[in-house]
Amino acid sequence: MAVVEMAITPSVLNADLGRLAAEIARIPSADAVHLDVMDNHFVPNLTFGLPTVASLRGSVSLPMDIHLMIEDADRWAPAYAEAGCESVTFHAEACAAPVRLARGLRASGARACLALKPATPVEPYADLLGEFDQLLIMTVEPGFGGQPFLDVCLPKIARARALARAAGLEIAIQVDGGVGEETIGRCAEAGANVFVAGSAVFRDPDPDAMVRRLRALVA
Ligand code: DX5
Ligand code: ZN
Repeated sequence: MAVVEMAITPSVLNADLGRLAAEIARIPSADAVHLDVMDNHFVPNLTFGLPTVASLRGSVSLPMDIHLMIEDADRWAPAYAEAGCESVTFHAEACAAPVRLARGLRASGARACLALKPATPVEPYADLLGEFDQLLIMTVEPGFGGQPFLDVCLPKIARARALARAAGLEIAIQVDGGVGEETIGRCAEAGANVFVAGSAVFRDPDPDAMVRRLRALVA
């Protein structure tokens, strides 16, 4: 992403997981669909993996934003890029060689993205930001949708944006967890420009209208 632009990337974690393609078709106004891959080890929850994502790739026209909440990202992440996913996010806490992995993802044509849990500071990764297209700052402990937004993570968004600016980088900063009409403005003010919203979108009777409302709040 050459220019930092605003994007709404809804998560289908709280949608009907047995009807994923149909659920994704309900959010045509989204900039991408955020797919949460969980392995029951890195987080205490299990969703779906590469076979499901690769199958969806064949029928979904929106760009696919993969959020890997799995151990040993070094081993498993490259296949999601090779399957044609536009963005592949792995957790700093679950990766042994983030630079090597990021370069591999980019070489496969995907945006390389780094995620940080609430207690993981951004400063140790300051010199690595140029290797990434997007930084995901979690605003809940990863694992489940519908959790309350953690305001304590807002200063980290601002510090990450300042670090990126100081390095002359146009990196996207994505927020994930408890993002909705009440919280999206604070995230944008702190410096985020890409917004994941799960339950806020899919608990709304008209998910696409909620996507458009969220976009209007930060436009
Ligand atoms: C949680 C996932 C999120 C989740 C967000 O670990 O990474 O993407 O779906 O759901 P909400 O928006 O309900 O917090
Ligand atoms: Zn997520």
